[in-house]
Amino acid sequence: MAIKVAIVGMGGIGNTHARVYMQDPRAELVAVCDLVKEKADKAAEAYGCRAFYDEEEMLKAMPEIEAVSVTTSGYDNGSMHFEPAMLALSYGKHVLVEKPICADIRDARELVAYADRQKLYLGCDLNHYFTGPAYDADKMIANGDIGELVYCVHKVGFNGSEKKYGGAGSPRWLTPYSHIKAFCAHPFSVMRHFCGDIVGVQAFLSKPGVRATACDPMLSICSIHVKFANGGVGYLLSQRGDAMFGLGGWWSYEHAGTRGTFCIENAVEKLHYWDVDKVENPGMASPTPVTKDYGVSDFGSTFPNRIGAFLEDLENKVPREYLRASGRDALATLEYTFAAIKSYENGGILVVPEMLPPLHGDISRVW
Ligand SMILES: NC(=O)c1ccc[n+]([C@@H]2O[C@H](COP(=O)([O-])OP(=O)(O)OC[C@H]3O[C@@H](n4cnc5c(N)ncnc54)[C@H](O)[C@@H]3O)[C@@H](O)[C@H]2O)c1
Repeated sequence: MAIKVAIVGMGGIGNTHARVYMQDPRAELVAVCDLVKEKADKAAEAYGCRAFYDEEEMLKAMPEIEAVSVTTSGYDNGSMHFEPAMLALSYGKHVLVEKPICADIRDARELVAYADRQKLYLGCDLNHYFTGPAYDADKMIANGDIGELVYCVHKVGFNGSEKKYGGAGSPRWLTPYSHIKAFCAHPFSVMRHFCGDIVGVQAFLSKPGVRATACDPMLSICSIHVKFANGGVGYLLSQRGDAMFGLGGWWSYEHAGTRGTFCIENAVEKLHYWDVDKVENPGMASPTPVTKDYGVSDFGSTFPNRIGAFLEDLENKVPREYLRASGRDALATLEYTFAAIKSYENGGILVVPEMLPPLHGDISRVW
């Protein structure tokens, strides 16, 4: 039986979720909700489901709803996630929330703790590692082709230039930390997915003159150095349309281990693999990488992959702590973000992110 789904927030991304649910046989989109009547009505007509203008009315009117996508936005593209997500959980619904999980770390901690107490699935749309190259990289790591982590380097953001700069933007971008909070959930999630928990963060945040002149508060350049619990180190460079990215395009991730290195280019496009066994004396010599081109250039393909994984996990009733891209995983990315902000505010000091909530195990399953 298809999972009955509703969506709260029918902007661009709410409609993206809707199109995915319409295409996926594991889901049945039964309702959409937006505070703006025209948006809800238009979506309901397009997807053949009921329209609501108040989430609680929807939850009361349609008790058959099983899961809710929260695709609202707000300051830093996330301040309006907390209330609708908490409300859906309070009505016993599983929730897939957009990223960043929340704009404030206190909200995020409360949301994750509440989903845990309610024993409901809370997932987050951390879609950047639901790609062909990332699935293959997972296999290489699992097979031992990469070995022990030495370093990772992630460059990701938006291509641009001072000529293309269009001004400070809508209220959601009017805090200094709007880029790091709204966007860096993605690269932090990718780094944690491949390398594990981060235990040390040092950050420098900045912006180019064109933004300063325009009194744009956004710190659009994020240079963040991290240490992983496993001893490896990592570097994240993210910028929001201030410059063109060079090698690897707008999204590159290089992961080097003691047995091999892989690099993902443009998120969905290519995976390169350098096998150390192909060189007798590595030194200055690099083997030619083996490159797989996935023939995909549309980043939009990550949405059906990620949302499909959420539906699959619900359908399979996986233990809650095995949910892929969970609320706790999303909380981790926000803890790193807040650690980076603290580091920046203190001149680049080393900050240890707050520990994540403990995993309790699923009492209905005995190991
Ligand atoms: N995962 C990704 O790759 C990705 C990409 C882009 C954006 N996003 C995220 O998607 C989210 C939505 O982005 P968007 O650009 O579509 O936002 P948007 O502002 O265009 O749309 C949000 C909609 O939510 C509605 N809304 C707000 N609060 C509501 C409430 N309590 N009840 C009902 N409706 C409510 C608003 O009226 C608006 O129509 C953001 O959190 C953003 O960070 C994710």
